[in-house]
Amino acid sequence: MTERRLLLVNGPNLNLLGTRQPEVYGTTTLAEIEARVAEVAVAAGFDVRAVQSNHEGALVDAIQAARTDCVGIIINPAAYSHTSIAVADALRSVGLPVAEVHLSNIHAREPFRHHSYVSAVAEVVIAGAGPLGYEFAVQFFADRLGS
Ligand code: DQA
Repeated sequence: MTERRLLLVNGPNLNLLGTRQPEVYGTTTLAEIEARVAEVAVAAGFDVRAVQSNHEGALVDAIQAARTDCVGIIINPAAYSHTSIAVADALRSVGLPVAEVHLSNIHAREPFRHHSYVSAVAEVVIAGAGPLGYEFAVQFFADRLGS
């Protein structure tokens, strides 16, 4: 079973989804997103481990832990997308396929959001689809890894 697990990682402030800037991020909570991802993933033959942290090192630890029991990583690195070489290096180090998700279209927002260190490591980048972006990422892995 372990060979069919996806790691779902959400970075800083995403624990506040639902009430955080709803005009930008919508009203869906992180718990609802995680439940939906698990549902779609199970239908595609995957198990999901969901992690959210506001701390860069905790995200690095969660990514490193995936190398022993996950087949792919879905990550919304949030603000660390734009700042963290450590998160990008952790993803690079585990060598698993990565799908980067952003709820908002970061390219249509402030210039400092246009660059993501994680995008250079990701096989696929999904931005602007809201919570549906996470489902697209699961579908990507179902296609990429077979169901
Ligand atoms: C985000 C976009 C980032 O720029 C921002 O810092 C976030 C969320 C998104 O999902 O749209 O926290 O990753």
